Amino acid sequence: MTQAHLTVVDHPLVQHKLTLMRDRTTSTAGFRRLLREISLLLAYEVTRELEMTTIRIETPLCEMQAPTLEGKKLALISILRAGNGLLDGILELIPAARVGFIGLYRDPETLQPVQYYSKVPSALDARMTIVVDPMLATGNSSVAAIDLLKAAGARNLRFLCLLASPEGVARMREAHPDVPIVTAALDERLDEHGYIVPGLGDAGDRMFGTK
Ligand code: URA
Repeated sequence: MTQAHLTVVDHPLVQHKLTLMRDRTTSTAGFRRLLREISLLLAYEVTRELEMTTIRIETPLCEMQAPTLEGKKLALISILRAGNGLLDGILELIPAARVGFIGLYRDPETLQPVQYYSKVPSALDARMTIVVDPMLATGNSSVAAIDLLKAAGARNLRFLCLLASPEGVARMREAHPDVPIVTAALDERLDEHGYIVPGLGDAGDRMFGTK
């Protein structure tokens, strides 16, 4: 399903793997393996608009003008810590990508995201920049991360997640209507603690085996 701003990847393999990830009885090892697999499939979708050019090559039979990627290597930006789970799989598919990290925590009084770490690739203005975070919940950290990347020069941005809430999508659409979102599912709602329902729980805890 695709709207201007949101693509839900409804491929059967993605949906099957997502169901296994949602299941509370799936082990940490299983969850991690599924996340790696699903991130390859989501990466395929989110990179659909990478710019192409052609180069002259010789096959064993003849010369041809063959398609190849154009421009600077893309940038993958992981929102710590759960973003790293998606990042690992995508890097298998795009090993030459440049990688950045943004660390944010929620101020307990203002409930607003506060940045504690940021290291991003150079020349973001010339790269497709894909921000990865498995859960688009309130949207506050995604919006803050994209604010930071735009201030650093990024112009051609995408946001990739596993699950999105309607509230998170609306917040992103309001703050960054120019940033397409790719997700495996759009869930029903957020609960009073900011968890996505039905969701899959705390993505970081499930992938790292913490509580
Ligand atoms: N972060 C998570 O890990 N899970 C949610 O449901 C919401 C935010």
